[in-house]
Amino acid sequence: MPNAYISGSGMYVPETVIKNDDLKKIYGIDTDHEWIHKRSGIEERRFAPEGVNASDLAVPAAKQAVEDAGIEMKDLDMIIFGTLSPDAIFPGSGVYLQQKLGLCDGPNPNFVPCLDVRNQCSAFIYSLATAASMVKAGGCKNVLIVGAECHSAAMDMSTRGRQVSSLFGDAAAAVVVSQTEEDRGVRGWYLGADGRYADSLCLKGWDMRRRPYIPVGDDDCGRVTPEMMWPYMEGKLVFRNAVERMIQSLMKACSDHEITRDDIDLFLFHQANMRINQYVADQIGIPEDRLVHNLHKYGNTTAATIPLLIAEATRNGKLERGMKVAMVAFGSGFTWGSAIVDW
Ligand code: UT7
Repeated sequence: MPNAYISGSGMYVPETVIKNDDLKKIYGIDTDHEWIHKRSGIEERRFAPEGVNASDLAVPAAKQAVEDAGIEMKDLDMIIFGTLSPDAIFPGSGVYLQQKLGLCDGPNPNFVPCLDVRNQCSAFIYSLATAASMVKAGGCKNVLIVGAECHSAAMDMSTRGRQVSSLFGDAAAAVVVSQTEEDRGVRGWYLGADGRYADSLCLKGWDMRRRPYIPVGDDDCGRVTPEMMWPYMEGKLVFRNAVERMIQSLMKACSDHEITRDDIDLFLFHQANMRINQYVADQIGIPEDRLVHNLHKYGNTTAATIPLLIAEATRNGKLERGMKVAMVAFGSGFTWGSAIVDW
């Protein structure tokens, strides 16, 4: 059976930097740098401008990843798009990205399958498991995975929404998972979910039990209450479960592969909160120099956090061929997952 390895990566963050104090200055939110930094480690995040959505952010990241992999768009066999802030309710953002990458154009269009993965902060690990399975089974040679979020469009930018809006930022990052006969690549993964907490971190948007799904006023226009329109998060519950599940996922991935934390050269943790990551690292006994972070610069970019780390770490020399890498993520659902990759 062939192996599946990460052959290229790319990233894109919007130009506009929103510092913690800008949330107060620009949006009038009752918050400050000290509160946000102390509780989360975040210093700033990027917000995309009006007119830009997740698939737009994904385009430069995807182009960079394909180029970095040394292939062309025509060589792609599949697109997997992870996002919780999709362009539309349907169709998925993957098909919009396919169009925007030009795969449908010209005399030889590449009508690859496009799959959206709706697993929020764990989307990248779920996507990697899916892509690697397809590649190892021989069905695909090159799968493009993109994690892209346009959170700034769907957060309550008032004091009411500050618990959520102070944490999240916009970004896109991509990898290509390719087939190889070399002894390297994605060794395995562990995925999990606990649907009892589905409503503990969510954005409802509408209610499909209603007829119609959004209440309509006398003027024929839909009426959406703030409770439906904005994300809801039980912060402390999410925090506790994140710590527990991330530790458990890492231990399980290590035991399945008969390795210990000392065999791992680099840990790529989902970037939601530095206190969560610090707690997990302390409990497992991971030295600081085996972790990379970018939460302080970009905030929580959900499906994009781990591929963003990959794109940065491969470019700044922290992630090199021959290293053993462990990835772990936790998020809404609740869902979680880990993966072991020989680079
Ligand atoms: O990828 C998974 C996504 N989510 C997460 O990982 C989030 C996990 N949870 C967390 O990171 C933390 O729970 C938070 C950072 C969200 C909040 O930290 P906390 O220590 O749990 O604070 P809290 O929610 O208990 O809030 C404490 C106080 C409250 O005021 P009162 O009720 O004590 O008067 C909040 O209203 O802080 C207030 N508060 C804020 N104050 C200033 C909440 N957000 C803010 C804010 N600025 N941005």
